[in-house]
Amino acid sequence: MIKIGIVGYGHLGKAIEKCIAHFPDMQLFATFTRRDPNSISSHSRVESYDRINEFKDDIDVLILAGGSQKDIPEQAPFLIADFNTVDCYDNHDKIATYYKKMDEIAQANRRVSVIASGWDPGLFSMQRMLMEAVLPNAETYTFWGPGMSQGHSDIVRRIDGVKYGVQYTIPSDKMMEQIRAGQKVDYTPAKAHRRDVYVVLEENVDTEKITKEIKEIPDYFAPYETTVHIISESDFTANHQGMPHGGYVIRQGETSEQTKAKYEYSLQFDHNPEFTASICLAFARAAHHLYNERNFGAKTVLDIPLRYLSLRDHNYLLERFI
Ligand SMILES: NC(=O)c1ccc[n+]([C@@H]2O[C@H](COP(=O)([O-])OP(=O)(O)OC[C@H]3O[C@@H](n4cnc5c(N)ncnc54)[C@H](OP(=O)(O)O)[C@@H]3O)[C@@H](O)[C@H]2O)c1
Repeated sequence: MIKIGIVGYGHLGKAIEKCIAHFPDMQLFATFTRRDPNSISSHSRVESYDRINEFKDDIDVLILAGGSQKDIPEQAPFLIADFNTVDCYDNHDKIATYYKKMDEIAQANRRVSVIASGWDPGLFSMQRMLMEAVLPNAETYTFWGPGMSQGHSDIVRRIDGVKYGVQYTIPSDKMMEQIRAGQKVDYTPAKAHRRDVYVVLEENVDTEKITKEIKEIPDYFAPYETTVHIISESDFTANHQGMPHGGYVIRQGETSEQTKAKYEYSLQFDHNPEFTASICLAFARAAHHLYNERNFGAKTVLDIPLRYLSLRDHNYLLERFI
């Protein structure tokens, strides 16, 4: 049995606790939180993050389920000295720097750190690389959604006067169809997606001012076609509690002149944290495998043999999947 520890009990931490039931070779040892463990309502063991090093011999792989902005950059370099880790760090611009730092510490301490797993980065990264390798003369396009973006929803909720809020990212069907038909498109993320925001407002606030404020948030909303819907609390409670998401990676081009080829990969899931948690767990299996063969250091999803993710033995893989 691979003994798993979870660091952080937010959406992802809770989802790992739940989804591990589908991974028969794994068991949850404990979840570690920076809050008072007694304040956490969980059916499994919860310990204080301050005491985590006391459990270094009880855990094979720690899954870091904290936020990418602040938690992982602070926790991961400290934890990798005593544990093997898996995270789904998703700050795309800083992944190369993060990799270098984690690789140095993991090598020095003879540990394995799987970084930036999840679906994007993660499964989508694997597909983007594979698509380019097999279809060099082509263009790759990534579309996210339709789905609820946790990061954009958080930004909306921080605006004064917003009581509850959620943001859905909607990819352009028209642009996807043009790409699938082999037409040239002027792709930028802002042209390829629109944003639908649903908010419940506090009483006596200026609706127009808040709508304008949301639409003008640089980078997150301003470059996108954004629609803000003001809804009632009962509508929000009844219709906006799910966390569905997904997306598409499409590569369209030619294998030779005038001979077209399209390679498309898509994901749809009802619950973003649960799907991400399941990916982290498969990569925790790979981390354990790498550690057992003394293949230390930081690894991305592109550095790990695919079969290390599987529960199956090599013969089974040969007979069923090749
Ligand atoms: N690569 C991918 O495809 C992918 C996909 C989805 C998500 N992600 C990333 O995964 C990371 C985690 O996402 P998440 O949705 O789980 O974040 P989250 O719910 O905001 O949780 C982050 C941390 O905040 C703390 N926290 C949660 N609820 C709290 C509360 N009520 N009061 C005080 N603290 C609380 C927890 O740490 P403590 O228990 O220590 O307090 C938790 O680990 C994000 O960075 C996200 O971008 C990546």
